[in-house]
Amino acid sequence: MSQMKKDCGYAAADLVKDSQVLGLGTGSTTLYFIEKVGMRVRDEGIEVMGVPTSFQSRLLARKWNIPLTDLSEHEIDLAVDGADEIDPDFNLIKGGGAAHTLEKIVDYSAKELVIIADESKLVDVLGAFPLPIEIIPASLNPVTKALEDMGGKVEVRMGQAKDGPVITDNGNFILDIAFGQIDNPIPMEDELNTIPGVVENGLFTEMVDKVIIGSKDGVKYL
Ligand code: A5P
Repeated sequence: MSQMKKDCGYAAADLVKDSQVLGLGTGSTTLYFIEKVGMRVRDEGIEVMGVPTSFQSRLLARKWNIPLTDLSEHEIDLAVDGADEIDPDFNLIKGGGAAHTLEKIVDYSAKELVIIADESKLVDVLGAFPLPIEIIPASLNPVTKALEDMGGKVEVRMGQAKDGPVITDNGNFILDIAFGQIDNPIPMEDELNTIPGVVENGLFTEMVDKVIIGSKDGVKYL
């Protein structure tokens, strides 16, 4: 599995051109993208800047001496990000690492968005992976009720090696919602964000330009 993640992460890094501003996604796949961009900075002397989507990608970029910037300073030429599920229309579920709010801001604003993932992330219909939703902590009860009214089974994401709920990089909670099959992700993405207290949901629709899949048979460009 990690070889497939590495293959697609490295393939995406080979698309990077000198002088580009890069959106740096979060997760165990983008880790390899950032690593290879760092190697190209070191070995080829390419000059790029990164806009991180989490503390994880910020620390990785620092480790690889990739200069950092932010959206107040630069527009993003190319964002590269991972996904938890990818449907045939390139709609995504993201947020398995609780970073989807900043990821969506960065990915949406990028001139080009490339998604990298191992082949296990390709699905016919979204929804087997519970949908992550970042919420303001004080809104937990009313948001839970609203999501249950929409047919969702709601779990507050709990920390590992941390007591109590996961706290996001933005100081919020994450709810993981089992809706079953998500047949209409485009209107659902909008609907979820109308619930007061919801900061951002993990549906990413109509924004992906290219998907690079790491598979047992090598890298596939979709
Ligand atoms: C971070 O919150 C997520 O959106 C990740 O990009 C997504 O979960 C993919 O992560 P992996 O590459 O670790 O599977």
